[in-house]
Amino acid sequence: MKEMVVRAVRGVLISVSVMAGGLHTMGGLSFGHENHPTQMPDPQQTVAFRTYLMENIGANAKEMKGKIDAGKLSEAKMNAAAIALHSTRIAALFPEGSTSDASRAKEEIWQTWDAFLASATELSTAANALTVAAGEDNATAVKEHMQKMFGTCKGCHDQFRKPEE
Ligand code: HEC
Repeated sequence: MKEMVVRAVRGVLISVSVMAGGLHTMGGLSFGHENHPTQMPDPQQTVAFRTYLMENIGANAKEMKGKIDAGKLSEAKMNAAAIALHSTRIAALFPEGSTSDASRAKEEIWQTWDAFLASATELSTAANALTVAAGEDNATAVKEHMQKMFGTCKGCHDQFRKPEE
């Protein structure tokens, strides 16, 4: 039932983007990409909501890296903490069989659930260690944990996320 709602919503968004394309040619207007909602989706729409959460993790990671590269460790702390908090929600946002046309979640998530959970926990651990290191202004530890953290994103995506269509 939930997934039907997601499909219906996506159908609407697709027709909107076709229209936007038409307008674009006519008036030079540009619209946001359909996969980047401007506000939080209904938390009951599992796929849309977890995509939103993941994209917020991505936005925090990008901003955090910029701050760390610029030596602003205490400012990066907040982004690391947000990622750590988000990571604790990953398990609950992948109920068994929750896929849709819009989702890039692989079946392997539920076939090897323990490995998926372990990967989410690795992200929590790395992001939390990074939060602590940033709070202590420890540049060496920050770099080390940042590398570990990005390794967990890639590790989980390689194993559990379908390639972009
Ligand atoms: C435990 C596994 C796991 C971890 C760890 C993880 N992700 Fe993801 N991520 C996924 C899965 C699975 C999807 C696809 C979800 C879907 O489409 O239903 C996803 C989707 C995304 C998306 C949305 C874009 C898209 O269309 O797929 C972004 C952005 C993203 N992740 C960024 C990150 C970043 C940055 C990190 C690390 C800081 C991270 N993720 C850590 C599993 C993970």
